[in-house]
Amino acid sequence: MIIYYRHHKEYYILKLMKPTLHQLRIFRTVAKLKSYTHAAAELHLSQPAVSMQVKELQQTVGVPLIEQLGKKLYLTEAGETIYHCAIEIARRLNEAGETIDHLHGIKRGRLKISVATTASYFVSRMLARFADLYPEVSITLDVTNRQSLMSQLANNEPDLVIMGEPPTDQDLIAQSFMDNPLVIIAAPGHALAKKSSVKIAELANQTFVIREKGSGTRAAIERFFSAAGAEIKTTMEMTSNEAIKQTVQAGLGLGIVSSYTVELEIETGNLTQIKAKGFPIMRKWYLVQRASKRLSPVANLFESFVLQYKRVDTANA
Ligand code: PGA
Repeated sequence: MIIYYRHHKEYYILKLMKPTLHQLRIFRTVAKLKSYTHAAAELHLSQPAVSMQVKELQQTVGVPLIEQLGKKLYLTEAGETIYHCAIEIARRLNEAGETIDHLHGIKRGRLKISVATTASYFVSRMLARFADLYPEVSITLDVTNRQSLMSQLANNEPDLVIMGEPPTDQDLIAQSFMDNPLVIIAAPGHALAKKSSVKIAELANQTFVIREKGSGTRAAIERFFSAAGAEIKTTMEMTSNEAIKQTVQAGLGLGIVSSYTVELEIETGNLTQIKAKGFPIMRKWYLVQRASKRLSPVANLFESFVLQYKRVDTANA
């Protein structure tokens, strides 16, 4: 009985060991695209070759993996299981490849970074320098606001995130690496521009153009004024720092933005900075990852690079 049981179990394990990586890759693509034709195109194979490999995989596993109803393909329960297994195997092989490359001193791989809208002003420069150092790393960059970054972190989508306000309700590692001062901007010649220190009460008499709800900049501004027991009047909400700058420049209100976004305009005199009590609001930029995430070698490289970035930036200035 025991011998039969062991034999029986080994038989199943052997059966599951039999699929080739080639078959799993093809099945993964068919399962992802729910189409033999599209999978064949993506894999640069003929459609009969793709169908044949999936058929052989089904025979190996011993149960149907895909069902066709009308023109649509559906994964069976076994198909779902093999699909997730194939994704995991591909991910682990990829990681192993990157680790081995790393051991050989080869710095290549994929990096998926998401950054706050405002961070894009310095991140492009940062990435250009990183790409110079590691030309074989391919980078995907998503620029979005704080709220969307929080859900990406919760879904474990990016390798690393650059943001101004790491959420406190998730298990994250957040390392600050650079200051993020928020300054008040106005059109040149604004009445408050001549003053050496504008009071908060005076700001409350002005109208402001501010970022959308969900923006970290907006949250920091709201916190600042509520801590000072004041309220500011807002005329317009905008999802882009560029739009805020244009609107302020046109004289439609004051703006509060990260100083990184207005360096050029202040320098050329197209915008002016208001000196007000409590400003700039001092904040930090953080490099954030999920605490449980094992960073790939390339993500580790990027992490060290970012944490040293300010120094490199200053050294090259
Ligand atoms: P954001 O920037 O305002 O573009 O979301 C993030 C932050 O400053 O916290």
